[in-house]
Amino acid sequence: MCGIVGYIGNEQAAPVLLDGLARLEYRGYDSAGVAVYDGKEIEVVKSKGKLAVLSDMIHGGKDIKGTVGIGHTRWATHGAPSDTNAHPHLSQSGRFAVVHNGIIENYLELKQRLMSKGIEFLSETDTEVIAHMVEYYYKGDIFDTMVKVLNRVEGSYALGVISVDNPDEIVAVRKDSPLIVGTSENGNFIASDVPAILNKTRDVYYLEEKEIVFLRRDGVEIYNFDREPVKKDLTHIDWDADAAEKGGYEHFMIKEIMEQPKAIANTVESRIKNGRIVLDNITLTAEQIKSFDKIYIIACGSAYHAGMVGKYVLEQLTRKPVEIDLASEFRYRSPIVTDKTLVIAVSQSGETADTLAAMNEAKRLGARTLSIVNVVGSAIAKQSDDVIYTLAGPEIAVATTKAYSCQLAVFYLLALYIAQETKIIDCDKLNDMINELLLIPEKVQSILDKKEDIQYFASRHFADKDIFFIGRNLDYAVCLEGSLKLKEISYIHSEAYAAGELKHGTISLIEDGTLVVAVATIDRLFEKTMSNVVEVITRGATVLGVTKETKTIMADTCNFIFYVPESIDIFMPSLSVIPLQLFGYYVASMKGCDIDKKRNLAKSVTVE
Ligand code: G6P
Repeated sequence: MCGIVGYIGNEQAAPVLLDGLARLEYRGYDSAGVAVYDGKEIEVVKSKGKLAVLSDMIHGGKDIKGTVGIGHTRWATHGAPSDTNAHPHLSQSGRFAVVHNGIIENYLELKQRLMSKGIEFLSETDTEVIAHMVEYYYKGDIFDTMVKVLNRVEGSYALGVISVDNPDEIVAVRKDSPLIVGTSENGNFIASDVPAILNKTRDVYYLEEKEIVFLRRDGVEIYNFDREPVKKDLTHIDWDADAAEKGGYEHFMIKEIMEQPKAIANTVESRIKNGRIVLDNITLTAEQIKSFDKIYIIACGSAYHAGMVGKYVLEQLTRKPVEIDLASEFRYRSPIVTDKTLVIAVSQSGETADTLAAMNEAKRLGARTLSIVNVVGSAIAKQSDDVIYTLAGPEIAVATTKAYSCQLAVFYLLALYIAQETKIIDCDKLNDMINELLLIPEKVQSILDKKEDIQYFASRHFADKDIFFIGRNLDYAVCLEGSLKLKEISYIHSEAYAAGELKHGTISLIEDGTLVVAVATIDRLFEKTMSNVVEVITRGATVLGVTKETKTIMADTCNFIFYVPESIDIFMPSLSVIPLQLFGYYVASMKGCDIDKKRNLAKSVTVE
């Protein structure tokens, strides 16, 4: 996820672009850049780091002259954060500059083709192919050129292009990535999101898929790819800028919960090609994978909970023993790790001090390391032997939701990849699993579409003092995350128990009306968990059951039931965690808690 802004009008462009980018920094903040046409050529200034670094370099934009320009704030996906990988990217001769938000999936193929024609690439980004292709195909008609380029591109994009040949216009287009157009008497704008331009105008057009827009100083024209003009109504924005940055949601947490279908799809789809799992950047060979006699997972917080799911999934699909440990414990207990151990470090931020130190300890002991990280170029990503990025985009709310879901998705990809490379699962079964994995985003969406059911249930329980979560196996791992979500943002005391363990003492905490959330999504364990549900109901508990659509029988026993769609057992955590996240969110919201900034907690913990 990145942020883009473009401006053409009567004012100097650079300060307008910087101001817009500042309001889009929530979409990415590892580097930023602007390109402005100064009447002779396109001047590009870009820099690694927060927008403030770029802003200081060009004195708030005063150093750059010109009234047409594009800007970008980056969240790295292809190529680490660096000055060179920052956008805008120029074509070979410097006549075209491009900013992009999205992922060009076939960029390697396109890059090779362009390189074979003698075109030199400066960056490691997928975006640079667009800049070179535009110049390569340009024969005087920018509309034709854009259509030609985009017909050859697979993936998602919101693009802004300026050129020396057409200095009085910005061309922009979108597919699967957001882009809006703003209009005013002083000029016209493109932006990834409304807040970028709210200082300048409240009149916007929302572009639809594959609409191409030409912005000039005095107007805006929108077309489809068949060159037919598209007539649109202007929308007048009347929200305040703060709400808009959250995309209209009240909190970043609910916005990020709602973004999960897209985040999971981004993480999974780019790694499945022709029915096979392709982990492009992994250097591990099938022989090395076979030689591992143990896998260790190390992480903290929610990443540790994702690792719990990972343990069950990896053991089931690879038949290798998997241990999981909290990074802060692992590093101080002389772990039994050898050169035949694969150590997987999981971290959203990639900067958590305990996880980094534990991973480096494993390395020192001779282990091969692989990290699952969201922030590109972070310390854990850089220092591990291999990294698989979760493509969740920036996560702002301190309580993680979409990054956790993407960590699960990467564990599925990794386990299936190991099974595929070591041929431990027969082809048909593997294909069925891969096909099922691709369906998770739409199943998650169908759960989100029923969020009001959870909101209603939360309205009945937001004043509770203690809430328990029970489940077995993968359901237990999800309960740990559900319980953490609830307690960290609502400050209600909560514990998660393996369902069979509750009766060993702690069932004494169940009193009349105590809420127990029971997760029972695994067919072979359903009856067992149901026995535990009956045990707590007998002691007066109120039970919310979370199960699959086919297990309607659970409704006979529980006070309230929430159904999630059917899937293969190993994928159920991706579905059953969603109602638990929503429950935590709505309870905290009804209690009036400061959801995005929990007390005493930080998003990235870089101390021991
Ligand atoms: C902090 C956050 C948690 C997070 C944990 C690990 O405690 O509050 O939400 O799960 O760190 O963070 P990481 O960035 O390593 O996933």
